[in-house]
Amino acid sequence: MKFFIDTANLDQIKKAQDLGILDGVTTNPSLMAKEGISGQNNILRHYEKICNLVEGDVSAEVISVDYKGILDEGKTLSKLHPQIVVKVPMITEGIKSIKYFSNNGIKTNCTLVFSSGQALLAAKAGATYVSPFIGRLDDISQDGILLIEEIRHIFDNYAFETEILAASIRNPMHIINCAKAGADIITAPLNAILSLANHPLTDIGLAKFLDDYKNTN
Ligand code: E4P
Repeated sequence: MKFFIDTANLDQIKKAQDLGILDGVTTNPSLMAKEGISGQNNILRHYEKICNLVEGDVSAEVISVDYKGILDEGKTLSKLHPQIVVKVPMITEGIKSIKYFSNNGIKTNCTLVFSSGQALLAAKAGATYVSPFIGRLDDISQDGILLIEEIRHIFDNYAFETEILAASIRNPMHIINCAKAGADIITAPLNAILSLANHPLTDIGLAKFLDDYKNTN
């Protein structure tokens, strides 16, 4: 299972990278805006900085919603750095664009996926990654993990190579349940990833070991 970090914050990306468990980065226009990155040039420079911090794939999202616009943006992004994956929204123009990119050796991440039908279309078009947003489904009382299980089942039935990149992860239980459901990758904020390491019995046990060592040395 691969771990991506879902942020455009360079410090957090560096912290995750330093842990030694990071396989890639996902960003989106909202995450870029949160870091105060605006203007096409600044946005492109920021993607380069992220690519230079990590070794894995870095998803960079297009903001066009028409075929030509998506292709133009995607080509610019993919030429920026070999680690860039073009993130394309799940709309009909997006599906056509994913097919074009796939035919031309450009990696894609189909984003804003909320149903297994959408995931199936993205896989048919040749997406490298498909991103089901499980937290946003949970927010409206739909089972996000069930969607991961359904997509896993469908992709396995036909040996689709598209990887399931579980997105919109809010907490460590989402990560564990995605692992149980067979997601290939999770993308999560740093705090959700770090929370996996926490257990009160670990803290109590470590304090006791250190105390016992101190009392006898
Ligand atoms: C996916 O790639 C998105 O960047 C992200 O996971 C969305 O998460 P959110 O629902 O917490 O905004």
